[in-house]
Amino acid sequence: MNIMVIGGGGREHAIIKKLAENKSITKIYALPGNGGIAADAECVDVKATDIDSIKAFAAEKGDIDYAVVAPDDPLAMGCVDVLEGMGIPCFGPDAKAAIIEASKVFSKDLMKKYGIPTAQYETFDDMDKALAYLENAPIPTVIKADGLALGKGVIIAQTRDEAKAAVRKMMEEKAFGASGNQIVIEEFLTGPEVSVLSFTDGKTIVPMISSQDHKRALDGDQGLNTGGMGTVAPNPYYTEDVAKECMDTIFLPTIEAMNKEGRTFKGCLYFGLMITENGPKVIEYNCRFGDPETQVVLPLLESDLLTIMQAVTEQRLAETEVKFSDESACCVVVASGGYPASYEKGKEIFIGEMEGKTDVFIAGAKLEEGVLKTSGGRVLGVTSVAPTLKEAIDTAYRNVEKIDFEKAYYRKDIGKRALEVERS
Ligand code: AMP
Ligand code: GLY
Repeated sequence: MNIMVIGGGGREHAIIKKLAENKSITKIYALPGNGGIAADAECVDVKATDIDSIKAFAAEKGDIDYAVVAPDDPLAMGCVDVLEGMGIPCFGPDAKAAIIEASKVFSKDLMKKYGIPTAQYETFDDMDKALAYLENAPIPTVIKADGLALGKGVIIAQTRDEAKAAVRKMMEEKAFGASGNQIVIEEFLTGPEVSVLSFTDGKTIVPMISSQDHKRALDGDQGLNTGGMGTVAPNPYYTEDVAKECMDTIFLPTIEAMNKEGRTFKGCLYFGLMITENGPKVIEYNCRFGDPETQVVLPLLESDLLTIMQAVTEQRLAETEVKFSDESACCVVVASGGYPASYEKGKEIFIGEMEGKTDVFIAGAKLEEGVLKTSGGRVLGVTSVAPTLKEAIDTAYRNVEKIDFEKAYYRKDIGKRALEVERS
C-alpha cells in the first residue's frame, strides 16, 4: 500500500513511525515532512496548506491508497473533501466537521445547544459591544479569537484593562487576521488539564490513553504559551470515574451533536478538558491529533494504527481492536533557545545513541547536504516508554542529554506534577 501523510512536525513523525509498523505499507509519502521524517518516509516539497499541489501530487502518482491529513489548516480547508473526491480514502474529518476546531463560536454554541459542559461565554462580532460587556464581566476572563490562530488566539486576562487590550488586538488590530472577526469571551475556569484524543467514526468513539501537555515555555508553568514543551501519558488526573463521566457527559454527546448538525465527525477528535470542582468541562476541541500529545500516545498503542484508521474511514470502528499498553510515556521537547519569541535556525543537530524504549521525533529540522539542522522553534521531542511514569521520565531525560545543538533548550520538569499526583 502507498500512503500519503499531510503535515511535517513531530506529530506527523510519530504517526509515520507508527504506521510503518504495518508491513503491508510499501511507501509513505510525507507532504512536506521534514529533515528527520526523511529517514522514515519520502518527503515531497509541498506545503500542507497547498491543497491544489497535494491534489496534483496524488493525481500524478495515481497509486495512493490512503491519506492521513494531520494538521488543522488543511482539514479546515477541505483537504479530505478534495482527496476523497478523487477516490482516495482519508483519515481526518471533512471541512464541515473540522469546524469544531476551526470556529470557537461554532464549538461553544454546539456545547450550549446540546448541554455539553464548558465555560460560560458570550460571543461578539462588534468590538464596542465586547468592550461594554467587559465593564462588568468577572475577572480574570478569557478572550478567544474565533478562528485558527496557530494556538495563539487565547488570552487569559488578569485585569479589565488587559481584557480590553486583548479585544482590541483581535478585533481592531486584527492580530490574527480574519480569525478575530468574531470573538468568544468566557469564564475563567481552574483545575488540572487533561488531553484526551479519541478515534471516532461518527458512530463509535474510542478514547485513546489520556495525556498531559505542558504549554508554558519555562519550568513551573511560567513564561509564554508555546505549542507544547512536553507531555506524559497516562494523565493521573484522568481517573476511571472521570473517564466514565467524560464518556457520558462529553464524548458521546459530542459525536451525537455533530451527527444531528449534519456534520458527522470521522477521524481523531481531541478533547482539551479541565477537571473543575464541578466536574470535567471542555476547554477546546481539536479536529486532529494533538502535538506533542501524539508523541506519547501513539508509542503506547499496541494495535495497528493503519487498521484502526481504515476502520474509522469505513465506519467499522466498533468491531476493531484499539489496545493500549499499560506502560507510561514521557516526551521532552527540545526547542531552539528563545522560542516561542525569536530564535536562531540552521544549527547542526547531534543525536547520540538512545537507550531504553526511546524515539526521537523530529519537528523542526531540515537536511542540508545530509546534515540535520534546526529549522524551527520546537526542534524535536524525545519520547521514552517504561513500566512506570517515573522510569519513563527518567529515561527520557537521560536521553535528552544526548541531544545537542547550539542554544538547545528544554524544560526540566516535564511530568513532575503528574508524578506528585500519582504519589498522593
Ligand atoms: P487553547 O488554545 O484553547 O488550547 O487554550 C490555551 C490554554 O488556555 C488552555 O490549555 C488553558 O490552559 C487556557 N484556557 C483556555 N480557556 C480557558 C478557560 N476558560 N479558563 C481557564 N483557562 C483556559
Ligand atoms: N498540544 C495542544 C494541541 O495540539 O493543540
